[in-house]
Parts: sequence; structure tokens; C-alpha cells
Amino acid sequence: MKNTVTIPEENPTSQIKVSNITISPMTQEDLLYFEQNLITEFDDFWNYSTLKQEFLGENTTYIVAKQGNNIIGFAGILTIIDEANIMNIVTKKDKRNLKVGSLLLENLIKISKQKNLKSITLEVNEHNIPAIKLYEKFNFNKIGIRKKYYNNTDSAIIMTLYI
Ligand SMILES: CC(C)(COP(=O)(O)OP(=O)(O)OC[C@H]1O[C@@H](n2cnc3c(N)ncnc32)[C@H](O)[C@@H]1OP(=O)(O)O)[C@@H](O)C(=O)NCCC(=O)NCCS
Repeated sequence: MKNTVTIPEENPTSQIKVSNITISPMTQEDLLYFEQNLITEFDDFWNYSTLKQEFLGENTTYIVAKQGNNIIGFAGILTIIDEANIMNIVTKKDKRNLKVGSLLLENLIKISKQKNLKSITLEVNEHNIPAIKLYEKFNFNKIGIRKKYYNNTDSAIIMTLYI
């Protein structure tokens, strides 16, 4: 079922040292925020209607990072049998390199463990250094490459973490 994961309010077990940031399941109200802000403040690789469709999907779980009431990041997985696929992980443009991405990824891993999944997989543009560094920090391994996957130019690196 959607959004039934439990995320401790204060996140006491987090290894990521950031203050005043909470992680919670994405709500319908959170989703609406992205209608106006997704492309300008976060990223343009998806549009709002795609995000909405994914959020409403049967087998997806989306979380948001908030500073006070302000959304500063979000991430989502799609579960296929016993594997999680990271659909996206994005932090607000003016909040990058402040460990928000780490906090989101740490929580996606926790949620995947709660769901008794075996692995987490994603694909990332070969030139997306911040994202690759983020995944490596959490011990994801490069397991394959899809040549010229993005716009028939950049390749996608496939990375997996067994949990
Ligand atoms: C990828 C992304 C989610 C990372 O989020 P973030 O909040 O900046 O991540 P963090 O601050 O937790 O950084 C995690 C690690 O990434 C690396 N990193 C972050 N920004 C970096 C940069 N600009 N250059 C090089 N490395 C960087 C660091 O090694 C960092 O580890 P550290 O905290 O031990 O120093 C963010 O850059 C983003 O939203 N990018 C656009 C969307 C995107 O590309 N998503 C991934 C799709 S596959």
C-alpha cells in the first residue's frame, strides 16, 4: 500500500548530520507544490504530470525533505517484485551539497529494507558527478552501462546496492 512507511520524526538513527530537516511520505498537498516549482526550483528532467502519475502509481513510494514547512527535496522508488528502482532523487537547486540528497537516499534504503527488498537499482547519466558521488557514498556499485541512452549521446551507468 502507498505511503504506509514509518519515518521517525526526529530520525534518531540517521548517520547524516543535518539539523532541522525532516523526511516524511509525500502527501497530495506536497505534490501540488511541485505543480508550479518542479522545473524552476528542482530539475527539468521530468514534468509535473509525469511526477503526479508516478506518485499515484500502485507500486511507488515517494518521500519529501522539509525544512520547516518548505520542501527542499524529494525522492521516489518503484518496487518491482523484490527490487527497488530509484525513479528520482532531487534536491532544491539552492540546497545542494548540503547533505539533503544523502538524507533522502538514506531513507530510501531504510524504506527498502522495511519492505524486505533485496536490492536498489538506478540509472544515472555518466556526466552527473554529484549523483554518482552520492550513490558511491552509499556503496552502490556500477553494474552496467547503457550506451548513448540520453538523447542518443550520453551513456547511462546502472548502479545497484544489495541490501
Ligand atoms: C544528485 C543530487 C540529488 C545530490 O543531492 P545533494 O543534496 O547535493 O547531495 P549531498 O549534499 O548529500 O551530497 C552527497 C555527496 O555527493 C557529492 N557531491 C554533492 N554535490 C557535489 C558537487 N557539486 N560536485 C561533486 N560532488 C558532489 C559529495 O561527495 C557528497 O558527499 P559528502 O556529503 O560526503 O561530501 C542533487 O545534485 C540534485 O538534485 N541533482 C539534480 C537531480 C539529479 O541529477 N538527480 C539524480 C538523478 S540519477
